[in-house]
Amino acid sequence: MRVLVTGGAGFIGSHFVRHLVGKGEDVVVLDKLTYAGNRANLDGVEHDFLEGDIADPAAVARAGKGCDAIVNFAAETHVDRSILGPAEFILTDVLGAQVLLDYARHNEKRLVHVSTDEVYGDIPLGAPGCTEDAPIRTSSPYSASKAGGELQVLAYVRTFGVDALITRGANTYGPRQYPEKFLPLFITNAFDGLPLPVYGDGKQRREWLHVADHCDGIELALRGGAAGEAYNISGQERENIEVVRRILDLTQASPDLVRHVEDRPGHDRRYAVDSSKLRGLGWAPQHSFDAGGLEETVAWYGENREWWEPIKSGEYKRYYESQYAARLA
Ligand code: NAD
Ligand code: DAU
Repeated sequence: MRVLVTGGAGFIGSHFVRHLVGKGEDVVVLDKLTYAGNRANLDGVEHDFLEGDIADPAAVARAGKGCDAIVNFAAETHVDRSILGPAEFILTDVLGAQVLLDYARHNEKRLVHVSTDEVYGDIPLGAPGCTEDAPIRTSSPYSASKAGGELQVLAYVRTFGVDALITRGANTYGPRQYPEKFLPLFITNAFDGLPLPVYGDGKQRREWLHVADHCDGIELALRGGAAGEAYNISGQERENIEVVRRILDLTQASPDLVRHVEDRPGHDRRYAVDSSKLRGLGWAPQHSFDAGGLEETVAWYGENREWWEPIKSGEYKRYYESQYAARLA
């Protein structure tokens, strides 16, 4: 099988490319190489690569030639950046999804649209993880744009009979995640003795999903999922501040680095999803956040400074300044 992996130079996309190639599949990557895209993420992996935008039909047609299926990871992905500037999120996460769907429609390709558990919004404390039929209740411009892409998928399945489906993964962690996100930001700052900016009281809860388990789930959906369906991919639920304490332990950084700063506007308190439907396709996560997963991830950032140190310059510094300078002042 030849698979078009869009956004394959980003965090999860690059792991998925390695995952498929490791299983003997043929992969072509289409990636715009935004600030989050990094060719080095694909070093040593056999693949074809095209630089281009998923919202550009000509680029999609070039990349899609000869493919059997498409897995769409390409997106603007950071909630805080969506608060600073939502427009780019609509262009890629909604319009880009629609352009891919048009391609899938006219060329009869299967399309897996990689989405997020954030589309369900806040899940009340103590409530069970929500199933795929729960209402979409988005909070941030990011999650609203991801929901917009999902709704295009459902419309194309229903109206045009496109063979497309959705995955909704939880907070994903592992090597090569861009250090704007909570775990790599806090791990790398802890190594460098920089402040750890905890939003609000730090009692927000997220489910932590190892990137390899996320890739397994997406592959199962690609091979066995049904058109028009969504599949949750859950993780292990932890309170943010509890995770910060573990990072301090694992990096041996000083607790004085922890700074409670102004909260994220519209911040969801809790995400929690039920993955029974995906388990029905055979999904069984192999990684435990507490027994190895977080520890190995911290060790990876410790051993791979040459991956993240160059990133923490230029554009990253400008973003960091606009996001944190006033909060940390
Ligand atoms: P990332 O930000 O690390 O990478 C995104 C990639 O998409 C980059 O390589 C970037 O260059 C590329 N890209 C952006 N706009 C593009 C465009 N218009 N055309 C082509 N390429 C473009 O993202 P990630 O964290 O790996 O997330 C991948 C997907 O998984 C996203 O769709 C995201 O919404 C979803 N997701 C992420 C998480 C998570 O915790 N990281 C959890 C659930 C779902
Ligand atoms: O749930 C899946 C989603 O997880 C993905 O769809 C998104 O692409 C991904 O970015 C992630 O969204 P979150 O907003 O949950 O992740 P983030 O890493 O930004 O933050 C995780 C938690 O940590 C959240 O409660 C906010 C908090 N946080 C984050 C940052 C960056 C802080 O307290 N301080 C920070 O500086």
